[in-house]
Amino acid sequence: MSPPTLSGPKHVAIIMDGNGRWARAQGLRRNLGHERGGHQVRDILRAAFHLGIRQLTLYAFSTENWKRPKPEVAFLMNLLVRFLRSETEPLNKDNVRFLTLGDLARFPQRVQDEIARSKEVLRHNTGIVLCLALNYGARREIVEAAKSFTRRCLQDPERVDRLDEEGFNEYLETAGMPELDMLIRTAGEYRVSNFLLWQLSYAELYFESVFWPDFTPEHLRAAVENFRERDRRYGGLNPIRKKA
Ligand code: FPP
Repeated sequence: MSPPTLSGPKHVAIIMDGNGRWARAQGLRRNLGHERGGHQVRDILRAAFHLGIRQLTLYAFSTENWKRPKPEVAFLMNLLVRFLRSETEPLNKDNVRFLTLGDLARFPQRVQDEIARSKEVLRHNTGIVLCLALNYGARREIVEAAKSFTRRCLQDPERVDRLDEEGFNEYLETAGMPELDMLIRTAGEYRVSNFLLWQLSYAELYFESVFWPDFTPEHLRAAVENFRERDRRYGGLNPIRKKA
């Protein structure tokens, strides 16, 4: 199945917030909110494909999430492993490619192995890209990029003056990925929480009040329709609205 060619955002990132509050509102333990949140991922990915989105990048675990109680962190690790074990084959049938952002080295070995296995199985696929941000932090990403660039400059000092924004992109973890078009955050918080800070420069921001476990394909469709109505000027003027 090849992706539909619809106008609209090609690369959408989501901060999947509100699992804990969703659970509390139902009188359930926080982890059940994460469990429900994990179930949403497949439905939203499928809907994203049908809306013509080429890459869906999900903030699944931030560099700050290690501060959570150990049992919650362990639950999230297990959830990720279960997700990859049960979903890799269906994702393969749907021609989904799987990428990650973030420093995986801090994850337990079995989690790293599962991620590597899924990436390998889905490596040649050409459909929508599912990118999970795992132990990801944007400031860390930018610092690491600066370090890599500096190391290259030690061998070739003239690189310093040749560096431009496009060139710096190549040092980021998102090198080679499509430009980010839209960031969605659920659960009514108006923050970007150290997510894709460089990449957000010209992205459209969309905030949805529902908690992530209640975020349905309908909500995603509404976000995409909202994006299509926006006037993206990148700091310039829209030629047909110059006088406005
Ligand atoms: C934020 O909700 C959510 C997270 C920190 C984890 C996100 C993980 C999932 C949605 C499920 C796992 C994903 C995959 C791909 C299997 P929160 O706990 O901060 O909610 P709260 O702000 O209401 O407490």
